Amino acid sequence: MNSAPIRTTLLMTSLLLASPMALADARDDAMRHLASKSGCFICHGIELNASGPDGLKPVGPPWKAVAARYKGDKNAVKTLTAAVMGGTSPYSRHWKDESSGVAMPPNGVAIKEDDAKKLVEWILKMK
Ligand code: HEC
Repeated sequence: MNSAPIRTTLLMTSLLLASPMALADARDDAMRHLASKSGCFICHGIELNASGPDGLKPVGPPWKAVAARYKGDKNAVKTLTAAVMGGTSPYSRHWKDESSGVAMPPNGVAIKEDDAKKLVEWILKMK
């Protein structure tokens, strides 16, 4: 007997019963996975006090710091998605004191713009 329909029904039922909290967790996992497979975590951490290689500051700013800095900035999704896709300039650093990397390279080779936007929206909601 084919158990696939049963499994699907069980899955659907558990999704329907899932609390909004569990759904938020599932979304969180999906976003972490996307960030991980796109290489973001090579340079970025999420938590504020994460340190980088050899106890230096992390290469890129912690994402909770990014969320705090751009809180209330209506253009943040647009400008940050552009920064993720196209990279940042070493001559006008936004995170000079909080990170040890000189600039963010363009990530367009590793991630599609739609996905970069989803990550930025997720980052900006971090508390
Ligand atoms: C090779 C290292 C590296 C990788 C990989 C990387 N970043 Fe960055 N990122 C940086 C650095 C360094 C900065 C700080 C640039 C500055 O000081 O202006 C930064 C800054 C940022 C900022 C803030 C930009 C600003 O203008 O304030 C966001 C948002 C961000 N990164 C998201 C991402 C996402 C999403 C990914 C994965 C798709 C990613 N980064 C991959 C190094 C990296």
